[in-house]
Amino acid sequence: MDKAPVASITDCFKISIRRGGFAWEATNKNLIFNLHPLLMLLGLILLGGEAIISYKSLPLKKQVKKLIHLVLHALALALGIIGIYAAFKNHNESGIANLYSLHSWIGIGVIVLYGIQWIYGFLIFFYPGGSPTLRSETMPWHVVFGLLVYVLAVANASLGFLEKLTFLENSGVAKFGSEAFLVNFTALTTILFGVFVVISVLSEAPAPIEDDHSYSSI
Ligand code: HEM
Repeated sequence: MDKAPVASITDCFKISIRRGGFAWEATNKNLIFNLHPLLMLLGLILLGGEAIISYKSLPLKKQVKKLIHLVLHALALALGIIGIYAAFKNHNESGIANLYSLHSWIGIGVIVLYGIQWIYGFLIFFYPGGSPTLRSETMPWHVVFGLLVYVLAVANASLGFLEKLTFLENSGVAKFGSEAFLVNFTALTTILFGVFVVISVLSEAPAPIEDDHSYSSI
């Protein structure tokens, strides 16, 4: 299962290296764009997925799992914001219009919902924390909403791959060439990873470790 995200990140690297690599400042603006898929996959898909799996499956105390969950999601969100900024930077410096595609509209929706979900989770479940009733009543919604945003992010990444490959094919890349296969298989490994994240949420969690606050020597 853990091979899928690694494959999708290394494949994404390969695609970008074939397309000249990465840069924040460059005369070749495509190098700025190349940061976009890399950061989106590393952030929202990989770290976001690990944040979800870790809370469900790590055999640790609840407080520790919560901390890992929120830190991984914060990193995912930060990389996602920088990744979207890179796409805007590429468009602005190349004179291309912003927000014209379905991918970009859903992308803005995903990042906004991800941010709202993180802020709500932090305030209600971590610090300062909501009342016990509010926490228990809204926890199922936090799970459903979080999973929905994650699935939307995976679906939107697939749209992004489709859009990018269509641009490449329109500019001469062979439809059955190695680059086309690389892009499509990167999308497939991304979807596969998303499927395993969803399965991990629906599956049974290991028994939690109870903290009895007793003293134990190191
Ligand atoms: C969940 C992950 C992703 C999100 C939230 C996202 C979001 C966005 C947003 C908001 C834009 C608009 C930028 C602008 O209008 O200036 C954009 C552009 C773009 N993205 Fe993504 N993206 C994601 C993943 C990907 C991936 C994996 C690819 C694959 C190559 C990709 C390809 C593109 C392309 C080609 C554009 C430029 C064309 C357009 O604006 O539709 N995206 N993305």
